[in-house]
Amino acid sequence: MNDFELYQPTYYVFGKGKQSRVGELVRRFGATKVLLHYGGGSVVRSGLLDQVRNFLNEETIPFVELGGVVPNPRGGLVYEGIRLCREKGIDFILSIGGGSAIDSGKAIAVGTCYDGDFWDLWSGKVIPTGGLKHGCILTLPATGSEGSNSAVIMLEEGMIKRGLSCDFNRPAFSILNPELTYTLPKYQTACGIVDMMAHVLERYFTNTTDVDLTDRMSEAVLQAIIKAGPVAMEDPTDYEARAALMWSGTVAHNGILGVGRQEDWASHNIEHELSALYDLAHGAGLAVVFPNWMRYVVDKHVARFAQYAVRVWNCEMDFTDPRNTALEGIDRTRSFFKSLGMPLSFEDFGGKEEDIPMMTSKARSDAEGLLGAFERLTKEDISNIYHMCCE
Ligand code: NZQ
Ligand code: ZN
Repeated sequence: MNDFELYQPTYYVFGKGKQSRVGELVRRFGATKVLLHYGGGSVVRSGLLDQVRNFLNEETIPFVELGGVVPNPRGGLVYEGIRLCREKGIDFILSIGGGSAIDSGKAIAVGTCYDGDFWDLWSGKVIPTGGLKHGCILTLPATGSEGSNSAVIMLEEGMIKRGLSCDFNRPAFSILNPELTYTLPKYQTACGIVDMMAHVLERYFTNTTDVDLTDRMSEAVLQAIIKAGPVAMEDPTDYEARAALMWSGTVAHNGILGVGRQEDWASHNIEHELSALYDLAHGAGLAVVFPNWMRYVVDKHVARFAQYAVRVWNCEMDFTDPRNTALEGIDRTRSFFKSLGMPLSFEDFGGKEEDIPMMTSKARSDAEGLLGAFERLTKEDISNIYHMCCE
């Protein structure tokens, strides 16, 4: 196990009706004026926005509203939010919705405390040194943004999608009421299931040895998702399945499963180019990319993939040729995504092979020009993986 530091300050409030705690919570975390930040209408239709307005009014907490966050949230609204916060003296951001609303709120919170263009922070030019406090009411278990230290924003100019990870991105509190996810369309539920599994897998595929505790915890989270996912797809109002998914999504990405081990994140970065270019849901893009990344790297890591197959998918170990077991685990992953109605190839969502050179050149790489840690991918590898996604 590697040395690690984990800062996980988020106060989680989980259960039925818990949005009623919001006024008390924003006050507890020092808010004097709140920016109420949300998406394109689901919180209006569900009545949640009205409820939150009432809860804040009951606590006599002044607030200003900024709706209109779109999936794959745009930089334009972040600029607007920062301007509003400065003009109106706002000191707390309350986001209601899925990862997009929460991430947009995080970017506003951090951007408001930076005396320059917030994109300097997201592009990695400048390291953030502060941020307004922020909290959220989650309506879509998927990204884990409610507990994570990251926020992903897309800049309209050049359609560049980038994530920033820093401690200021950790929410002060997150309200998690599984009932608020009953209204999710099947497609969004499925995208969420894939995304949370991907967050575990980005950490699971590691070269760090002696990480049995986090391996076993990861396998347990994956199995819980694999069990609850189809139940929630079948019956959107099954509280226990929704609850299992909601907490799994948080645990998958709040950092606890990645401690002491190298993490990968190549698949996520390869995917970000798909959601940026085609405005595809992040989870749907991952369903296409992740199994192909697995197939691309499996031969160098047969033992780990075989372990994944046996422990997560209950595959039988082929001791004479463990590669068979490893491949079976990848097939099971793919079939599971398919059973959720997710796309598995470019053809399934309208991706174009001719876009691959552009996506490859835009895809994130580190100072050495490489991506990922489990396998260090060159631009050629990334291009090869995109091509596999076309098959
Ligand atoms: O905009 P509204 O009207 O609210 O509708 C949303 C949106 O259309 C709808 N929705 C949300 N909750 C609902 C609901 N519809 C009915 N009932 C509900 N209860 O669902 C649609 C998708 O919402 P969105 O927030 O975009 O989805 P998600 O939570 O998957 O967030 C995706 C974004 O998060 C980023 C992704 O890249 C993408 O930009 N990620 C953020 C991460 C993080 N901050 O740690 C990590 C992830 O890996 C990911 O990259
Ligand atoms: Zn993700």
